Amino acid sequence: MQPLLRQQRRILSLGSLMLLVATGPLLAQETNTLRGQSGAVASGLTLYNQHCAECHGLNATTPQAEAPDLRRMDGFCRRLKEPSLKADCTADVDRYFLRSVNEGKVRAGVVHMPPWKDVLTRDEVWAIRSFVETLPADPPRRITSVDAQRATQSAQGLRP
Ligand code: HEC
Repeated sequence: MQPLLRQQRRILSLGSLMLLVATGPLLAQETNTLRGQSGAVASGLTLYNQHCAECHGLNATTPQAEAPDLRRMDGFCRRLKEPSLKADCTADVDRYFLRSVNEGKVRAGVVHMPPWKDVLTRDEVWAIRSFVETLPADPPRRITSVDAQRATQSAQGLRP
Protein backbone atom coordinates (compact mmCIF):
# COMPACT_ATOMS: atom_id res chain seq x y z
CA MET A 1 0.00 0.00 0.00
CA GLN A 2 2.68 2.49 1.04
CA PRO A 3 4.98 2.04 -1.97
CA LEU A 4 2.04 2.20 -4.35
CA LEU A 5 0.84 5.48 -2.83
CA ARG A 6 4.32 6.92 -3.03
CA GLN A 7 4.57 5.85 -6.62
CA GLN A 8 1.22 7.42 -7.43
CA ARG A 9 2.33 10.63 -5.82
CA ARG A 10 5.51 10.59 -7.87
CA ILE A 11 3.53 10.08 -11.06
CA LEU A 12 1.19 12.89 -10.05
CA SER A 13 4.00 15.36 -9.42
CA LEU A 14 5.71 14.34 -12.64
CA GLY A 15 2.40 14.99 -14.41
CA SER A 16 2.01 18.47 -12.97
CA LEU A 17 5.64 19.26 -13.76
CA MET A 18 5.13 18.24 -17.38
CA LEU A 19 1.98 20.36 -17.51
CA LEU A 20 3.93 23.34 -16.21
CA VAL A 21 6.69 22.82 -18.75
CA ALA A 22 4.12 22.49 -21.53
CA THR A 23 1.96 25.51 -20.65
CA GLY A 24 4.67 27.80 -19.25
CA PRO A 25 5.89 29.24 -22.55
CA LEU A 26 2.33 29.42 -23.89
CA LEU A 27 1.12 31.39 -20.90
CA ALA A 28 4.15 33.67 -21.11
CA GLN A 29 3.19 34.62 -24.67
CA GLU A 30 -0.24 35.64 -23.46
CA THR A 31 1.29 38.52 -21.54
CA ASN A 32 3.24 41.48 -22.86
CA THR A 33 6.81 40.33 -23.54
CA LEU A 34 7.94 43.75 -24.81
CA ARG A 35 6.80 45.96 -21.94
CA GLY A 36 8.98 49.03 -21.44
CA GLN A 37 11.34 48.29 -24.36
CA SER A 38 12.04 51.56 -26.17
CA GLY A 39 12.23 49.99 -29.66
CA ALA A 40 8.84 48.36 -29.17
CA VAL A 41 7.34 51.59 -27.84
CA ALA A 42 8.54 53.49 -30.92
CA SER A 43 7.25 50.93 -33.43
CA GLY A 44 4.07 50.60 -31.35
CA LEU A 45 3.33 54.29 -31.86
CA THR A 46 3.74 53.95 -35.65
CA LEU A 47 1.64 50.77 -35.79
CA TYR A 48 -1.00 52.31 -33.57
CA ASN A 49 -1.42 55.40 -35.75
CA GLN A 50 -1.43 53.25 -38.85
CA HIS A 51 -4.10 50.74 -37.73
CA CYS A 52 -5.92 51.89 -34.60
CA ALA A 53 -6.00 55.70 -34.53
CA GLU A 54 -8.90 56.10 -36.91
CA CYS A 55 -11.23 54.70 -34.23
CA HIS A 56 -9.30 54.96 -30.94
CA GLY A 57 -7.93 58.48 -31.58
CA LEU A 58 -4.60 59.86 -32.85
CA ASN A 59 -1.60 58.94 -30.65
CA ALA A 60 -4.08 57.28 -28.27
CA THR A 61 -4.48 60.64 -26.55
CA THR A 62 -7.49 62.00 -28.38
CA PRO A 63 -10.42 59.78 -27.42
CA GLN A 64 -13.32 59.78 -29.80
CA ALA A 65 -16.86 58.52 -29.57
CA GLU A 66 -16.12 55.58 -31.88
CA ALA A 67 -14.04 53.43 -29.57
CA PRO A 68 -12.84 53.21 -25.95
CA ASP A 69 -9.86 55.25 -24.71
CA LEU A 70 -7.19 52.53 -24.45
CA ARG A 71 -5.29 54.46 -21.74
CA ARG A 72 -8.13 53.64 -19.39
CA MET A 73 -7.64 49.88 -19.69
CA ASP A 74 -4.97 49.83 -16.98
CA GLY A 75 -6.68 52.32 -14.69
CA PHE A 76 -7.81 49.69 -12.19
CA CYS A 77 -4.40 47.94 -12.06
CA ARG A 78 -2.46 51.20 -11.74
CA ARG A 79 -4.40 52.04 -8.62
CA LEU A 80 -3.57 48.75 -6.90
CA LYS A 81 -0.70 49.16 -4.46
CA GLU A 82 0.44 45.62 -3.79
CA PRO A 83 3.04 44.61 -6.42
CA SER A 84 1.93 40.98 -6.88
CA LEU A 85 -1.72 41.95 -7.15
CA LYS A 86 -0.80 44.68 -9.62
CA ALA A 87 1.24 42.20 -11.70
CA ASP A 88 -1.66 39.70 -11.81
CA CYS A 89 -4.04 42.48 -12.75
CA THR A 90 -1.77 43.71 -15.57
CA ALA A 91 -1.39 40.15 -16.88
CA ASP A 92 -5.18 39.86 -17.00
CA VAL A 93 -5.41 43.07 -19.02
CA ASP A 94 -2.63 41.77 -21.31
CA ARG A 95 -4.68 38.66 -22.08
CA TYR A 96 -7.85 40.68 -22.59
CA PHE A 97 -6.00 43.15 -24.85
CA LEU A 98 -4.52 40.35 -26.97
CA ARG A 99 -7.85 38.56 -27.31
CA SER A 100 -9.72 41.79 -28.16
CA VAL A 101 -7.22 42.76 -30.85
CA ASN A 102 -6.82 39.28 -32.33
CA GLU A 103 -10.51 38.44 -32.45
CA GLY A 104 -11.98 41.92 -32.90
CA LYS A 105 -15.34 42.94 -31.43
CA VAL A 106 -18.72 41.81 -32.62
CA ARG A 107 -21.90 42.80 -30.84
CA ALA A 108 -25.37 41.79 -31.89
CA GLY A 109 -23.93 40.71 -35.22
CA VAL A 110 -22.33 44.11 -35.87
CA VAL A 111 -18.54 44.30 -36.26
CA HIS A 112 -17.36 47.14 -34.01
CA MET A 113 -13.72 46.29 -34.49
CA PRO A 114 -12.28 43.95 -37.13
CA PRO A 115 -10.03 41.06 -36.03
CA TRP A 116 -6.30 41.77 -36.39
CA LYS A 117 -4.85 38.28 -36.06
CA ASP A 118 -4.13 37.99 -39.79
CA VAL A 119 -2.75 41.52 -40.01
CA LEU A 120 -0.54 41.96 -36.95
CA THR A 121 1.98 39.60 -35.39
CA ARG A 122 1.88 39.03 -31.66
CA ASP A 123 5.00 41.16 -31.22
CA GLU A 124 3.29 43.97 -33.10
CA VAL A 125 0.28 43.73 -30.79
CA TRP A 126 2.61 43.86 -27.77
CA ALA A 127 4.46 46.81 -29.30
CA ILE A 128 1.16 48.70 -29.53
CA ARG A 129 0.27 47.80 -25.97
CA SER A 130 3.76 48.83 -24.79
CA PHE A 131 3.33 52.20 -26.50
CA VAL A 132 -0.10 52.81 -24.94
CA GLU A 133 1.29 51.85 -21.53
CA THR A 134 3.79 54.72 -21.65
CA LEU A 135 0.99 57.29 -21.78
CA PRO A 136 -0.12 58.83 -18.52
CA ALA A 137 -3.66 57.79 -17.72
CA ASP A 138 -6.28 60.32 -16.83
CA PRO A 139 -6.55 60.96 -13.09
CA PRO A 140 -8.39 58.16 -11.28
CA ARG A 141 -12.06 58.77 -10.66
CA ARG A 142 -12.09 56.74 -7.46
CA ILE A 143 -9.98 54.22 -5.58
CA THR A 144 -10.57 50.51 -6.12
CA SER A 145 -12.61 48.45 -3.64
CA VAL A 146 -9.47 46.36 -2.93
CA ASP A 147 -7.45 49.44 -1.97
CA ALA A 148 -10.37 50.82 0.03
CA GLN A 149 -10.61 47.58 1.99
CA ARG A 150 -6.86 47.61 2.66
CA ALA A 151 -6.96 51.24 3.77
CA THR A 152 -9.77 50.43 6.21
CA GLN A 153 -7.85 47.42 7.55
CA SER A 154 -4.70 49.52 8.13
CA ALA A 155 -6.75 52.21 9.84
CA GLN A 156 -8.14 49.51 12.16
CA GLY A 157 -4.63 48.26 12.85
CA LEU A 158 -5.33 44.94 11.15
CA ARG A 159 -2.58 45.58 8.61
CA PRO A 160 0.88 47.16 8.95
C1 HEC B 1 -13.03 50.34 -37.02
C2 HEC B 1 -12.73 50.94 -35.75
C3 HEC B 1 -11.65 50.31 -34.91
C4 HEC B 1 -10.33 50.08 -35.24
C5 HEC B 1 -9.64 50.37 -36.56
C6 HEC B 1 -9.72 49.50 -34.06
N1 HEC B 1 -10.63 49.39 -33.05
FE1 HEC B 1 -10.32 48.64 -31.22
N2 HEC B 1 -12.27 48.86 -30.75
C7 HEC B 1 -13.20 49.49 -31.54
C8 HEC B 1 -14.48 49.53 -30.84
C9 HEC B 1 -15.77 50.19 -31.35
C10 HEC B 1 -14.28 48.89 -29.61
C11 HEC B 1 -15.32 48.63 -28.52
C12 HEC B 1 -16.14 47.46 -28.97
C13 HEC B 1 -16.98 46.85 -27.92
O1 HEC B 1 -16.64 46.93 -26.73
O2 HEC B 1 -17.96 46.22 -28.31
C14 HEC B 1 -12.87 48.48 -29.59
C15 HEC B 1 -12.30 47.83 -28.53
C16 HEC B 1 -10.95 47.59 -28.41
C17 HEC B 1 -10.30 47.01 -27.28
C18 HEC B 1 -11.00 46.61 -25.97
C19 HEC B 1 -11.03 47.86 -25.13
C20 HEC B 1 -11.81 47.78 -23.87
O3 HEC B 1 -11.64 48.70 -23.03
O4 HEC B 1 -12.61 46.86 -23.68
C21 HEC B 1 -8.97 46.98 -27.52
C22 HEC B 1 -7.88 46.48 -26.62
C23 HEC B 1 -8.78 47.53 -28.83
N3 HEC B 1 -10.00 47.88 -29.36
C24 HEC B 1 -7.55 47.69 -29.43
C25 HEC B 1 -7.38 48.09 -30.74
C26 HEC B 1 -6.09 48.13 -31.41
C27 HEC B 1 -4.77 47.80 -30.74
C28 HEC B 1 -6.33 48.52 -32.68
C29 HEC B 1 -5.33 48.66 -33.79
C30 HEC B 1 -4.58 47.48 -34.13
C31 HEC B 1 -7.76 48.74 -32.81
N4 HEC B 1 -8.35 48.47 -31.61
C32 HEC B 1 -8.38 49.15 -33.98
C33 HEC B 1 -12.99 49.99 -32.81
C34 HEC B 1 -11.83 49.89 -33.53
